Order: sequence, then C-alpha cells, then structure tokens
Amino acid sequence: MTKIPRHRIRLPQLDFSRERESDVYFVLDHEDGRAEHIRFHDYDRIYSLPGLYEQIFYERLKCDSPRFLALRMNEVLAAAGDDLNRQRVLDFGAGNGMMGEELAHYGVSRLVGADISEAAKDALWRDRPGIYDAYYVGDLSRHDDALMEQFGGWDFNCLTTIAALGYDDIPVAAFHRAFNLIADGGWIAFNIKETFLGQSDESGLAVFIKRLVAAEFLQLYHLERYRHRISIEGNPLHYCAVIGRKLAAMPDDL
Ligand SMILES: C[S@@+](CC[C@H](N)C(=O)[O-])C[C@H]1O[C@@H](n2cnc3c(N)ncnc32)[C@H](O)[C@@H]1O
Repeated sequence: MTKIPRHRIRLPQLDFSRERESDVYFVLDHEDGRAEHIRFHDYDRIYSLPGLYEQIFYERLKCDSPRFLALRMNEVLAAAGDDLNRQRVLDFGAGNGMMGEELAHYGVSRLVGADISEAAKDALWRDRPGIYDAYYVGDLSRHDDALMEQFGGWDFNCLTTIAALGYDDIPVAAFHRAFNLIADGGWIAFNIKETFLGQSDESGLAVFIKRLVAAEFLQLYHLERYRHRISIEGNPLHYCAVIGRKLAAMPDDL
C-alpha cells in the first residue's frame, strides 16, 4: 500500500480582518525550508498533494460532515421505507471523494462524482480509486449540452452536496441544475452554514433554499444543526444538515 505522506502544517494566528472563509489560509512548511501560504479555497493546490486535504480539514479541523450526513441519510431513508442501497447518487462538489467513501460504507447502487476541479478528479482516482463509478469535471452554472447528456444516462435519484455550498463554492445556478438532474421523488441531501439560512445571507442561497421548500419543490424530511468542523481558533462551526425529497423540477425563472 502506498504510504500517505505527513505534511508540516501551521495554522495562522487569528486575524479578525479575514472574515471570509475563502480568504483563510494555512502555512505548509516544505523540507527545503520554504513556507507556502495556501488558501483554504485553493483546492487545486491542496488536492495536488496526497493527504493534505484530509490532514488539514479532517484531522486538524475535525470536519465531520460526510460521516454525519451519510449516517443521517441512512437513518432518514430507512425511516421513510427506502434504502441507500437503492440510490443512484450524484455527489456534486465531490472533491477527492470523502462523501463517496462514507456512502460506500452503507453501499449505494451507483455513485457518480462531479466537480469543477480537474485536480479533484485526479486526486480521487489517485487516493480513492474504485469508489465512484464515474466522475465528471465541468461547470454546471453554465448550460453545457455535452455535460448534461453525460449526466442524463445515469438516471439519478439522489443528490449529495457536502461542504460545497456558499463561500464562493457552488453557486445557486449550478446547484439549481444539479437539483433538476434528480428524478422527482429522489433524495436531496446537503449541508450549509447556519448563517446562510438567515436574513443576512447575500449569496442568494437562503432565498433559493427557502423557495425550494416553500414553493413545494422539496419536501423536507430532516433539518439538523450540528458541528461541521472547528475554526482555526478552535471554535465550533455549525452547519445545518438538510435532507428532503424532490417533488418537482424547479423552473429556471425562480
Ligand atoms: C470543501 S470541498 C468539499 C469536497 C467534498 N464534498 C468533501 O466533503 O470533502 C468543496 C468542493 O466544491 C467544489 N466546487 C466549487 N465550485 C464548484 C462548482 N461551481 N461546481 C462544482 N464543484 C464546485 C470544489 O472544487 C471543491 O472540490
């Protein structure tokens, strides 16, 4: 088995001027003495180094979302008389496959990843080969016939989007398209920082999600506040886990 390298990581002192998660960074100390500053959102760089994503987010910052969401999905589906084993899942914003790995513990019928980052795909095939049936790289915020055709063949009845909404990650338009790729009656599971559901959210996500629920495109089965991970200062960062069933496609003009 290939040995996953350990990285020398330093988290910076708290800097109150950095309010956006996408601006937060850590320092990677290289063996030749170089200190590289890497932003949390420089996924391409992070994925390019085996084990770095897991070490910073899952080990140091104790991210628990894939495990937690997969566990709750298993429970919620079972309570509704369904089973994860019957799901043909689109894992949107799949990164290097952390959610796929959790879902694989329960077993799913099909698992397809999608991400905007080619580096994520490379990291997935490098670090978690065999977990996903396919993985597509593309930008769903723009209409792309070829990409939509590839997705169409999988007949998805489940969408997972974990730790990928908000903060300059997946925009509303792309999430909207991914939602509409799922069959009516299919399961939708995602998480979102609790503040994104509040009045002050400017990303448009809160409005989109409220419309999903209020206008009956999504039937809510489970909503739970939980600790997604800790911040670099060690404080808990709370997210909401949302699990529901798609009732109908959301029109483009909403
Ligand atoms: C924090 S990572 C989460 C990865 C994985 N879901 C996990 O739980 O570890 C966010 C992911 O969202 C992806 N992403 C950002 N914008 C995207 C977009 N417009 N379309 C698809 N993926 C996107 C990033 O490339 C990154 O892999």
